[in-house]
Amino acid sequence: MQNTISSFKGITPDIGQGVYVADSARLVGEISISEDSSIWHMVAARGDVNYIKIGARSNIQDGTILHVTRKSAGNPDGNPLIIGDDVTVGHKCMLHGCTLGNRILVGMGAIVMDGAIVEDDVFIGAGTLVPPNKRLESGYLYVGNPMIQKRPLKEAEIAFLKQSAINYVELKDDYLAEGA
Ligand SMILES: CC(C)(COP(=O)(O)OP(=O)(O)OC[C@H]1O[C@@H](n2cnc3c(N)ncnc32)[C@H](O)[C@@H]1OP(=O)(O)O)[C@@H](O)C(=O)NCCC(=O)NCCS
Repeated sequence: MQNTISSFKGITPDIGQGVYVADSARLVGEISISEDSSIWHMVAARGDVNYIKIGARSNIQDGTILHVTRKSAGNPDGNPLIIGDDVTVGHKCMLHGCTLGNRILVGMGAIVMDGAIVEDDVFIGAGTLVPPNKRLESGYLYVGNPMIQKRPLKEAEIAFLKQSAINYVELKDDYLAEGA
């Protein structure tokens, strides 16, 4: 994993126990990833001008980009990127300087912009655009560009949020076992 994980300004990504990082991913700088999460092929994550924190058992799927916003006079903390536990981030998403709680599914190709806050147990449909500083309420499906609150989640969908994370923990264990 020589080119996969690299330091920036003396800070090296902190990779927790049982985490899978695909060889083709690129993780740079101030990034922490808690146990049993997985970072899939071609993910680019730059913790350079602020930090990225990923909780436990979360999966960041292929081609997703994770980045942050620097501190400035008008925005003293900048915008770190914070992702909670048991979160599924689908293929080719863009998460920029936002905060995601726990048990969230970000559908393929979704974009979540700076300062947006996604509460626990939210489903973001494929291709959704979440504009800056919006708050997504727990228990709802959001879709569209710009997003709308489409409907409350069904019980089975709420259960699936956790199941999706479990599926990916099992899958990354298979990849770790194969050395793939
Ligand atoms: C949003 C999603 C859950 C829809 O589920 P659903 O139960 O079939 O949808 P609903 O029956 O509640 O609503 C269907 C309506 O929403 C529309 N719709 C469905 N998905 C949509 C999306 N991603 N964006 C915009 N509109 C969408 C449908 O066209 C339909 O519109 P209509 O009522 O005008 O006909 C699903 O399409 C989706 O985006 N899943 C994400 C999957 C994914 O990316 N997984 C991660 C990678 S593994």
